[in-house]
Amino acid sequence: MNELDSIVDSARHAFSQASTPADLENAKAQFTGKAGRITELMKGMAALSVDEKKSRGAAINLAKQAIEAALNDRRQALADAELQTQLKAEALDVSLPGRVREPGGLHPVSLTMERIEQIFASMGFDVADGPEIESDWHSFTSLNNPPNHPARSMQDTFYVDINGEDGIPYNLRPHTSPMQVRYAHAHIKKHAASGKPMPEIRVIAPGRTYRVDSDATHSPMFHQCEGLWLGENVSFKDLKVVFTDFCRTFFESDDLALRFRPSFFPFTEPSAEIDIQFQTGPLAGRWLEVAGSGQVHPAVVRNMGLDPEKYIGFAFGMGPDRLTMLRYGVNDLRLFFDGDIRFLRQFR
Ligand code: PHE
Repeated sequence: MNELDSIVDSARHAFSQASTPADLENAKAQFTGKAGRITELMKGMAALSVDEKKSRGAAINLAKQAIEAALNDRRQALADAELQTQLKAEALDVSLPGRVREPGGLHPVSLTMERIEQIFASMGFDVADGPEIESDWHSFTSLNNPPNHPARSMQDTFYVDINGEDGIPYNLRPHTSPMQVRYAHAHIKKHAASGKPMPEIRVIAPGRTYRVDSDATHSPMFHQCEGLWLGENVSFKDLKVVFTDFCRTFFESDDLALRFRPSFFPFTEPSAEIDIQFQTGPLAGRWLEVAGSGQVHPAVVRNMGLDPEKYIGFAFGMGPDRLTMLRYGVNDLRLFFDGDIRFLRQFR
């Protein structure tokens, strides 16, 4: 075998041993690189005669072409191999079972909210929605709870770093009661143009509320549902009937006792906490607080823009989170807001 053939042979061998493109380029350098064997042979031709140069040059060129052909073959082979590996890695196994998209479900508290809305709608109540970032006037002052009044400390309120029109910071509403005055204003405005006497106000306002509070039965974000029934002849008796009906429908039990326990709220007079008592089941015999309530205070009726000599009625504020816990027998409120799918799935 002549020298050129053996160089070509060893190039082919070296290329076949290269397992990566980088290895291959290193191998190539040994033959056709600056100091490669073919390059050295070319440099050695300087001393030859013209005729010798011709034949020697042609032979070296052939060898060089053979080496380059081998190089290209190997480059292609490595590229193919890499593509195969990549295809394999990205292959879709169509025989694998598909990922099932399970239908979602409503959050247990949302289920309760819907239930509350349905029950009150069936009793002729409108359902209203209001802002969670409230003015001081709506959350407190309009509700007969002026600045510096000690009853303000009943609520550990979150404040926002922006002042309202009154120069007092906005708050994250600590209850849904601001909806009493808000809804009354909207109701009056809506009916003012009609020329007909204003119909009674009968509304519930469910939504999120906030307080600086956090333990097994308190969450800084929680839910409330406000209720308001205001007319010319609405009494505490109506509150008892409506709320008793509601509780019995909600818990699907006629065997439910209610107790109105005297209490205080600045915006109602008289005021009462509403307790319920199951006669059967795991909670039987215990009084459980579910709402605050009372006859709407004349000062609040005035802030609604109505004459307290003419309009009278009641309001209540209940906790849908609490109702959900009682209905489903959940003992830690935080479970509702942790977002653990294993817990939430049970209500689907
Ligand atoms: N807003 C009161 C609270 O958050 C509840 C309530 C509403 C009481 C309406 C009376 C009337 O505790």
